[in-house]
Amino acid sequence: MSPKLAGLGTTIFAEMSALAVETGAINLGQGFPDEDGPALVAEAAIAAIRGGANQYPPGPGIGELRIAIAQHQARFWDMPVDPGTEVLVTAGATEAIAATVLALCDPGDEIIAFEPTYDSYTAVAAMAGARLRPVTLQPPAHAADIDALEALVTDRTRLVLLNSPHNPTGKVFSPSELEAIARVCVERDLIAVTDEVYEHLVFDGEHRPLATFPGMADRTLTISSAGKTFSFTGWKIGWVCGAEELVTAVRTAKQFLTYVNGAPFQPAVAVGLGLDDDFYAGLASTLRAKRDVLCDGLRAAGFEVFVPQGTYFATVDIRSVGGDDGLAFCRDLPKRCGVVAIPSSVFYEDPATGRHLVRFAFCKRTEVLTEAAARLASLAR
Ligand SMILES: Cc1ncc(COP(=O)(O)O)c(C=O)c1O
Repeated sequence: MSPKLAGLGTTIFAEMSALAVETGAINLGQGFPDEDGPALVAEAAIAAIRGGANQYPPGPGIGELRIAIAQHQARFWDMPVDPGTEVLVTAGATEAIAATVLALCDPGDEIIAFEPTYDSYTAVAAMAGARLRPVTLQPPAHAADIDALEALVTDRTRLVLLNSPHNPTGKVFSPSELEAIARVCVERDLIAVTDEVYEHLVFDGEHRPLATFPGMADRTLTISSAGKTFSFTGWKIGWVCGAEELVTAVRTAKQFLTYVNGAPFQPAVAVGLGLDDDFYAGLASTLRAKRDVLCDGLRAAGFEVFVPQGTYFATVDIRSVGGDDGLAFCRDLPKRCGVVAIPSSVFYEDPATGRHLVRFAFCKRTEVLTEAAARLASLAR
């Protein structure tokens, strides 16, 4: 008998982080910031622990946070949701995605997603006995091939799982692409699940939730989390918003995954969601400057760089610096120049598709990125 998830453990992140520790290299592999988020938000969590918010919170999440999430959706995306029935707090976006797929997919069902995909998608599809059907985003433009998407729809298609802003490419799906995806969902009567964890990390273009397109409000589950927006990735507070019937199904799955999570972090995230516009604008402009430091450095090192419109990540084609095996390249990079990156092949159904691509994270202090750029420059010599 072969275990259900055999071969799916993405050990590459652990391998590369271990390599960073072993060699003292700068870790631009896994996407987590090296600075804490707003002190006000951290203080709210400390106050919540001191104030006794340490037992099981209510199943759907505390009312204060669900109201803050609903207000956030209305304030930024003009997307009305009822905090009483259409919002569920989860253990990060990861649990929201897992609970959604487990709640909605039967064995044999299919989920269409644009690849490269965030690594949990394939794994949760496998847990549900479902299958991920990828539509490849081809560099340099990473344009969404809507004909290819439509061609994959069968009577087994259960979900379209859309991640925008997109990890690892940094693509922000354009309004016309979203409109076309929405049209396919409506015409083929599909449920959409959107992973919008990078909703506030947009530098070029504009983020718009798929749920706000015609015909989508009742057939979309919108997922996000506090990790990226507030730079507290370890708190694992996420949420899912959508029609009551769909959210209730997800809540049932969550009930038997974690039941509840993060009692003292929930009120703190509610404080974060209420921060003023300057916070959100500052977040994007700070990260844009970091993106530019890293991308300039990668270009100077000789890489072809696919400049991201959003997220924490920049992807390069390594063929311009010699070699076409990203995995071997990443295993060698710490020794060659003291920097760790992730081979993008792990984000593709067929690793050969992304063999020559490598991802670098830029959610690090500017001096760290400047030092990484200086080290990478040695590749050009
Ligand atoms: C596209 C995407 N979705 C979900 C997550 C996980 O979010 P959370 O930490 O809230 O579970 C990540 C984290 O890297 C991500 O990149």
